[in-house]
Amino acid sequence: MTRRILVTSALPYANGSIHLGHLVEYIQTDIWVRFQKLQGHDCLYVCADDTHGTPIMIRARNEGITPEALVQRMHQEHQADFQAFAIAFDNYHSTHSEENRLLAEEVYRNNRAAGHIAVATVHQAYCNKDAMFLPDRFIRGTCPSCGALDQYGDACEHCSATYSPLDLKQAACALCGEKPVQNSSEHLFFQLSRFEAFLKEWTRSGTLQPEMANKLEEWFSSGLKDWDISRDAPYFGFAIPDMPDKYFYVWLDAPIGYMASTWHLCKRSGRDFDAYWRPGSTAEVYHFIGKDILYFHTLFWPAMLQGAGFRTPTAVFAHGFLTVNGQKMSKSRGTFINARTYLDFLDPEYLRYYYACKLTGRVDDLDLNLEDFILRVNADMVGKVVNLAARTAGFLHKQFQGQLSAPYPEDGGLYTTFVQAGEEIAQFYEAREYARAIRLIMALADSANRYIEVRAPWNLAKQNQWVALQESCSVAINLFRVLMTYLAPVLPVMAEKVRHLLNLPELSWAGRCVPLSGSSIQEFKHLMARIDPKQVEAMLAASRPSSPESAAPPPAAAHPSASESASPPPAPSSPPITLETFTQVDLRVARILQAEQVPGADKLLKLTLDVGVLGQRTVFAGIRAAYTPESLHNRLTVVVANLAPRKMKFGLSEGMVLAASHGQGADKTALYLLAADSGAEPGMRIQ
Ligand code: MSP
Ligand code: ZN
Repeated sequence: MTRRILVTSALPYANGSIHLGHLVEYIQTDIWVRFQKLQGHDCLYVCADDTHGTPIMIRARNEGITPEALVQRMHQEHQADFQAFAIAFDNYHSTHSEENRLLAEEVYRNNRAAGHIAVATVHQAYCNKDAMFLPDRFIRGTCPSCGALDQYGDACEHCSATYSPLDLKQAACALCGEKPVQNSSEHLFFQLSRFEAFLKEWTRSGTLQPEMANKLEEWFSSGLKDWDISRDAPYFGFAIPDMPDKYFYVWLDAPIGYMASTWHLCKRSGRDFDAYWRPGSTAEVYHFIGKDILYFHTLFWPAMLQGAGFRTPTAVFAHGFLTVNGQKMSKSRGTFINARTYLDFLDPEYLRYYYACKLTGRVDDLDLNLEDFILRVNADMVGKVVNLAARTAGFLHKQFQGQLSAPYPEDGGLYTTFVQAGEEIAQFYEAREYARAIRLIMALADSANRYIEVRAPWNLAKQNQWVALQESCSVAINLFRVLMTYLAPVLPVMAEKVRHLLNLPELSWAGRCVPLSGSSIQEFKHLMARIDPKQVEAMLAASRPSSPESAAPPPAAAHPSASESASPPPAPSSPPITLETFTQVDLRVARILQAEQVPGADKLLKLTLDVGVLGQRTVFAGIRAAYTPESLHNRLTVVVANLAPRKMKFGLSEGMVLAASHGQGADKTALYLLAADSGAEPGMRIQ
């Protein structure tokens, strides 16, 4: 039965470039959509730029252009990046569009008419000089809790306290430095609590992954709060129809952008918008998102749709965040890699393949380990898959005018096994368990390679065994075709080359069931090159800030999370010591059994170490900016075991783990935990 499916990825902000973190999501979604299409389903993939809000407005102002011009430029840039990575949207729209304005107004009007929206007065920081209310991130000042200087208006990066911008000491407007005043203004509030029963039911109806459902339970138990959906002028967004000088908050119209993009697509393709979004719709609607925007997609969004009389999504699929070499993406390490920079050095299908190898249906973070990336791609894609055709297609072309044996030769049941595996592989794709799908596909590739090794067509050619040569190469090419059908959602560009090589009108899942026989293939052309580690190094170098200026933190208007400073020069070396002095330090191999964040301490991770004969130790390490807790799990590191225990605010620290950095006060994201080679055991002495 043909399913009618609508799929979305989160709409990227128009104020930043696409980077490898974003691509986890767009590649994950694209693979799923391509898989559905390959199955013959009626599947649409829509997305758009998320264009509204204060940061865009300020950035345009700084560049001396209109927000519209900025948004248009970013639209081109994003589209070019997505296209280069073969992300095949059926429509890529913008939230700054007529469709979105009309739909946002409709969603708002319906909710207001149904009594879901309340008006209340809010007190907010206001800059007289800029004549605007200041969002929290546009106010800097001294933390009222710990006294740290130059903190944002909503939270302290030093002590992690959260507060209202009005409590900030020596508050200053981030745009002009003036002291903000307090002004009051009427705002609109969407009353989320009215939807509690509906949301509880919705979240339990198979719409969410188990980890997400648990998160929602927490939110339900802490109570659903009303949501401020309005902002005061000046604001780049949609004017609220019945409230002069008020605009919809960007997060109100952003998800409506999913509908706007659908509408835009329907208009130009003669489809029925209502069949996707109005009540009675039988289409399946899926949102792929990152774990950071769960609240918006599983509470506000379904409630807003329900309140306005639209249908709600079938399911929301959340994924985790990207780490590179086990750590958060970092500018100074060169691992904050933009899509464009990657494209300057590497084939996009390498990344698609690697992400597929790692993606699961769960919300886990995903690590791009660059060494593993090179090994995996070279060993699997080039070594196992491309090689099948590279080693056999030439013989067919040279000796048999490209013609495959007819009928399909006896192959000991290999082809049947390959076809049958398709069922399980399809189930894995459907469940977004791509890693498991790839593992199965690579196991098949191994058996195809074993077949070629045994038949050794190169020997058959030398021995003039022409029938056997044609037959073994025909089997290899047929197995290769089934493999490429299975890999087509992941490697669409290579699949297209293979389709051409095999003279096929299409590669389809159902089409794999019958082997090719008697037809001819084209001359084999290069399909994919190996990765040279130098390409990866060059990409990292190009991603590293080259001078202190270019590494300076961007203004508050840009992504605050992306800001970092350059590394200072290395620390000078220390005076010599005797060997005896050195051996007084008891250095041991330790295994990190557990790593946890410490509430209230934004720099620390609490580590539970297994130090073998010395037992377990708890150590607080200032490495949180550089490592996610998950990435440390089970790693071997080095601990100073005889350091006098230190009582800290959060507990007793019984030792110290060793890490390399540029020294005191240096960039805390450029920190490298020492490791022992595998095979070392916890408790071993380092000397
Ligand atoms: N504009 C909002 C989404 C609005 S949807 C109605 C937004 N934009 S974003 O550009 O910050 O992120 C777009 C998507 O990319 C989000 O789903 C986000 O989770 C994902 N990612 C951004 N950085 C990421 C990583 N480092 N790793 C994995 N996914 C990441 O949020
Ligand atoms: Zn100001």
